[in-house]
Amino acid sequence: MQTNREPEPQLAFAVTTSARPSPRELARAHCLAGETGYRYVPRTHRSLAGMAADERLTGLIVVERGNFSLWVAGRCLRYHPNMAKLRLLALEQGKHDILVDALQLKLGDRVLDCTCGLGADAIVAACKVGATGRVRTLEASPLLALLVERGMACYVIDDPPALVPAMRRVEVLNADYADYLRCEADNAWDVVYFDPMFSETIADAQGLDLVRYLARGGSPSPADLGEARRVARRRVVMKDRRPGYALARLGFAKVEEGRRVCYGALPAW
Ligand SMILES: C[S@@+](CC[C@H](N)C(=O)[O-])C[C@H]1O[C@@H](n2cnc3c(N)ncnc32)[C@H](O)[C@@H]1O
Repeated sequence: MQTNREPEPQLAFAVTTSARPSPRELARAHCLAGETGYRYVPRTHRSLAGMAADERLTGLIVVERGNFSLWVAGRCLRYHPNMAKLRLLALEQGKHDILVDALQLKLGDRVLDCTCGLGADAIVAACKVGATGRVRTLEASPLLALLVERGMACYVIDDPPALVPAMRRVEVLNADYADYLRCEADNAWDVVYFDPMFSETIADAQGLDLVRYLARGGSPSPADLGEARRVARRRVVMKDRRPGYALARLGFAKVEEGRRVCYGALPAW
């Protein structure tokens, strides 16, 4: 994975292990601390809450058997493919997926997803564009990018069969789309996609959902969208809550509407 990863500036995190770590887990925790720049803190029989208080930490990256979890104030987040599982099952049954329709995806397409989150949209796109296509997803939060990148690399599930191959093909990059787009070549991707965290979404859920706690807020600026249109060969697509005030404000034409969300498109330059 390419990375510009640095410890999350405003959040004090450290790497630790489960309560009774195996030698392998200990080695993985030291390795993860070295790779990410978060310091390693030995567990020494403490509860996670006790450790966070002792060490004045916001949260912990807890290395466990097989993978790791993020812990903040009694809440724990492990990687999971979220709605991607049900959406791939629906696609297998020949049903429409509103994102696939909005992006007009076909086999072999190159998709740049600027807002990874837990990567469910990126997995659906990777399934639709197949092994000859390409999906790269950008995530501004180093912790979320780390969780999703490692999670997608090792998560195991048999059903639906297309899920694991699709998630293994997604390239996760810890980057801010504003910086990334400015350095990307003209027409490098067929479609560029945004699913921003609008401020009301964050306020609604703060304290309830670790993804929303760690996520970056805000929506793309007109200048970001100008860069996205230069980088896209076909179209730039953004998701919004219905009725689509942000889409209208940023000049998108509405192309798909669901029960709660809608999608708008801007043509490439
Ligand atoms: C609503 S979530 C995306 C959900 C995603 N579509 C999915 O299927 O799981 C938005 C994500 O975009 C990330 N984000 C916000 N601003 C960003 C930026 N400037 N660059 C990269 N990622 C950003 C947030 O941290 C958050 O994780």
